This record gives sequence, C-alpha cells and structure tokens, in this order.
Amino acid sequence: MGICWPKPAKCAHASSTNFPGSAKTHSNTKSESTSSTQKSPKENLNKPFIASKPHTPVASSSLKSFTFSDLKNATKNFRSETLLGEGGFGCVFKGWIDENTFAPTRPGTGIVVAIKKLKAESFQGHKEWLTEVNYLGQLHHENLVKLIGYCLESENRLLVYEFMQKGSLENHLFKKGVQPISWATRMHIARGVAQGLTFLHSLDANVIYRDLKASNILLDSDYNAKLSDFGLARDGPTGDNTHVSTRVVGTQGYAAPEYVATGVSA
Ligand SMILES: Nc1ncnc2c1ncn2[C@@H]1O[C@H](COP(=O)(O)OP(=O)(O)O)[C@@H](O)[C@H]1O
Ligand SMILES: [Mg+2]
Repeated sequence: MGICWPKPAKCAHASSTNFPGSAKTHSNTKSESTSSTQKSPKENLNKPFIASKPHTPVASSSLKSFTFSDLKNATKNFRSETLLGEGGFGCVFKGWIDENTFAPTRPGTGIVVAIKKLKAESFQGHKEWLTEVNYLGQLHHENLVKLIGYCLESENRLLVYEFMQKGSLENHLFKKGVQPISWATRMHIARGVAQGLTFLHSLDANVIYRDLKASNILLDSDYNAKLSDFGLARDGPTGDNTHVSTRVVGTQGYAAPEYVATGVSA
C-alpha cells in the first residue's frame, strides 16, 4: 500500500485550519453557532440531515456508495505509483472504474478517477468529509469538481472525484521546473474560478466556500478551472443578516485579513 508521508510544512499555505484565538461572538449578528436557524434554499436537504444524523452522508441518488474493497482494487491497493498528491485531509490516488457500473477496472481501462483517502487519525477530518459529501452531492456546476461517490466503512472514509488531468493550479504556479502558464490561460482560469464562486454565491446555492487557494483550484485537460474541497464550506447569509463565525476557518495567507480579524464574512 502507498505510504502517506507527513506533509512538509508550507509557509505560505498552511493547511486548512481554524485560526488560533479566533473564537467570535457578536450580539446583533448571526454567528456560526446559531446558523441552524438560517433559512437556506438547501436547508431541507442539508441542515436537518447534519443535525439529526451527524455520522452518515446524505442519501443522494446521484452519489455512488463504494465499498473499501472496490477502491482498493481501483487503486492497486493504494500503491504509491498511483499517488497524485497529498493534502491536510489525506492522500489522493489515481484509480480506474467502469464508466457504467462504477466497478473497479484494470488500470488503463474504464474511466480515471481521483480517490481521496482520509487519514485514519483525523477526527476533525470526518466533519469536513461529511460537509464535502453533503455540499458536492447537491451542488453541480461546470466550475465545481464533480464528486462521483464516497466510501464510509468502519474507520475508512474516502471520496471519489472526476480526475482532473492538469492537477492543481498550485503545482503550475509554484512547483519547480514546470512550464509557466501563459497570461491568456491564467485569465481563463481566473474566469472559471469567478464563475464557480458566482454560482456558489447565487441564491440557488447560497454557499460560502471559505477555502479559496491555488491548491484547491483543479484544472482539466483544457485548463478549465474547478473548485474543490468543500470541507470548510457553510451556508451563506440570508436577508439582512451579517455572518460572524464563532470558528474562523480557512488558510493563513489566503483568507481575507478582515475576516481573520473579526470573523465577519459578509
Ligand atoms: N480530482 C483530482 N484530480 C487530479 N488531482 C487531484 C484531484 N484532487 C486532488 N488532486 C491532487 O492531489 C493534491 C492533494 O489534494 P488535496 O487533498 O485536496 O489537498 P490540498 O488542497 O491541500 O492540495 C492536489 O494538490 C492535486 O495535485
Ligand atoms: Mg484540495
């Protein structure tokens, strides 16, 4: 099985986190701790589910529930040669499944998928895993990465996504030795990201993403950008309510300084 080595500390992009000393409360504004009273277009699907059944994913007809053995077979037992990358949540492996049945196939046949495997010791990871399943199971847009399915089996938690051929924007911007991308391509990527965020902020979705950074912007073979990692996302404000987070989350260096300082996200 592929070994997931501890990730070296990244100074500019510490992994998604609560910022230290950032618990906020505010008397006349909405806080994260009271957000269950919000009215959101997705409320019926999302909030009651999370509140009433915190440990299992929402029943979504569009998501496939994989067995752990399926995903082991799809990645050659998570062999290191299938490792695509590693984030705070765990390792991401390349796998192969049948286009119609989603059963694991021989490497090189069927369709390619990216399989993210939560680190066994990550307790906070379960909450983020569940948030990701719930949001990406319901939100569909050409600039959001497509979640194909998940696996929840004893302590194993995995996510199966469409494979993004060009990997993350971070690799194109900061990895040593890569060919710099042209300004036209950069503008195309920025436009895709803006479209993804516009969709999230629309009344239909009404979601605050909270973890926009180069490593969460994935690129397909034509450099179309898709947002990934919805583990820190939350429902957006409704009406005149300003939102204040009791738990200020995001990535140091990427989150807006005024949000980090005050918890106010709108
Ligand atoms: N759907 C995907 N297709 C191809 N590569 C992916 C996909 N998802 C993630 N990756 C790769 O795995 C790496 C780790 O992803 P992730 O766990 O989201 O951590 P981070 O966002 O901190 O980089 C990414 O930077 C990217 O290179
Ligand atoms: Mg990511």
